[in-house]
Amino acid sequence: MQFQSLLEEIVATLRPELGLAGQVASYIPALARVPAAQLGIALRTFDGQEAHAGDGLTPFSIQSISKLFTLTLGMRKLGESLWDSLGREPSGNPFNSLVQLESEQGVPRNPFINAGALTVTDRLASVLEPKPEMLALLSSLCGEPVHFDEEVAASEAATGYRNVALANFMKSFGRLANEVGTVLDAYFHACSIRMNCLQLARAAGFLCRDGAHPYTGESILTERQARRVNALMLTCGTYDAAGEFAFRIGLPCKSGVGGGIVAVAPDRLTLCVWSPALASSGNSLIGMKALELFAAKTGLSIF
Ligand code: DON
Repeated sequence: MQFQSLLEEIVATLRPELGLAGQVASYIPALARVPAAQLGIALRTFDGQEAHAGDGLTPFSIQSISKLFTLTLGMRKLGESLWDSLGREPSGNPFNSLVQLESEQGVPRNPFINAGALTVTDRLASVLEPKPEMLALLSSLCGEPVHFDEEVAASEAATGYRNVALANFMKSFGRLANEVGTVLDAYFHACSIRMNCLQLARAAGFLCRDGAHPYTGESILTERQARRVNALMLTCGTYDAAGEFAFRIGLPCKSGVGGGIVAVAPDRLTLCVWSPALASSGNSLIGMKALELFAAKTGLSIF
């Protein structure tokens, strides 16, 4: 299939809609300044073909897409024990909701809501240094050095009242082993990582290759673990819009409030779209449309 021309066609189709609807995330001041009228798309196939179009090489804040890699690191380093204090059900609530945590005694519904990512980060902090390990994993997976955006991390730390509340709430239930400040610092830094669509399409490549590193073939996750990550992406990866994603796109996806969305077509390819203006669900508005067009034109779907 001619992916390069397909990606260019998708960008050309959607470009007239850029800047017309949706809102750039404004609750993190450093993100509020990102111009909305941008659209990037990139993919890498199972056998190493690559294509990108539009702003596919422009770096952006990966935000909650980092939760995919935090989970990967957690599954790699902690195995099954990771699930001792972590659920695998969609929350049906906003990603930063405190409501369920109280009735469920501080056990997060899944690793892709904020409380879940804080739990995985805490578990990691007990066995390794999460900040350098995250950068090392992502740099290895995409074959290029990856960095934190210290301005975004500081901006989140200064305004992340909800995350501070979530971490303290879990600590009050005895669910965090490490200091709240240590866990939050690693979490905010993971969210602040800057990458472009092509780097993210490469980095997620192990998820369409039964867990094998996209370049070296090293086992990043076992085949079973990789399938489980894809299952969690489908059911929980796009906040409380996961049903809509499954209905309209039919591929496991993980989104972030920076406007990026990573999608996996198992055994075929990984794809990343980015457009900063968000729908009310917190997912990229035009990014969703781009994925929908891609799925329709390629016929790729897990269903
Ligand atoms: O925790 C936050 O508010 C952001 N750093 C990440 C938000 C995001 O992308 C959606 N979270 N699941």
